[in-house]
Amino acid sequence: MSASVPLRLALTALENSGAAASHVARELLAHALVPEPRPLGLATGSTMVPVYSALVEAARRLPDEQRQHLRRHWLSYNLDEYLGLGRTHPGSFAAFMHSRLTEPLGLDPASVRLPDGLAPDPLAEAARYAAEIGASGGIGLQLLGLGVNGHVGFNEPPCAATSRCRPVRLSAATRRHNAGAFAADPAAVPERAITLGLAEILAADRILLVVSGAAKADVLGRLLRQQPSPELPASWLQGHPAVAVIADRAALGGVAGAA
Ligand code: GLP
Repeated sequence: MSASVPLRLALTALENSGAAASHVARELLAHALVPEPRPLGLATGSTMVPVYSALVEAARRLPDEQRQHLRRHWLSYNLDEYLGLGRTHPGSFAAFMHSRLTEPLGLDPASVRLPDGLAPDPLAEAARYAAEIGASGGIGLQLLGLGVNGHVGFNEPPCAATSRCRPVRLSAATRRHNAGAFAADPAAVPERAITLGLAEILAADRILLVVSGAAKADVLGRLLRQQPSPELPASWLQGHPAVAVIADRAALGGVAGAA
């Protein structure tokens, strides 16, 4: 980093998204292989595709005994889910997790948890989901991607650091960005979702924020320079004692001296 840019978050710069994914996969695996791991907090989105591929690959290379440990002790909670989509809808985050992680890793589907997008009472479902995470001991290691508008989970700006698990309305920018899983039609992207809030995210023991690709360069630059503010929900991470930002060169393009 150049001396003129204050850096409040620990930053690991890697050559490309593949190297970033391998780094993150190693961290996730190390966490999952401790004797009694606390639950993992997981994310979806294009950034996580190479992360889960690298995790599946790394798990394949483990000795049988460790792979069994991984399967027996796995418990993860995803950040968010679209409202109105069931687990088998191809655009749902449940379907993303099933095809990218649960199935290839041979996990029990019941150990990979997400909010229920079809819950008749989304407010009650958000409260139930947060309470379940609390009852499981809280998140040990939280994986996060970064939205182009600075969201984490589906905490769209403006968003307070005290926000809790709740139903939210998605911004037009987010629905455009996520249209890929909906035949490139932003109008087909659900308008609402359930997301963990910043309060639950910040309660994790450790947080890994993964940022890759040139499209994230502007928002990453803002995140690394700005004071915490509701306009950039990810900036609340600056108040957490154990956050690692793992970014590739393309995402660091706008950050002088970082790459
Ligand atoms: C999505 C998800 C976030 C994700 C982010 C970045 O909308 N709700 O959890 O981290 O936006 O997505 P991508 O990796 O596709 O850029």
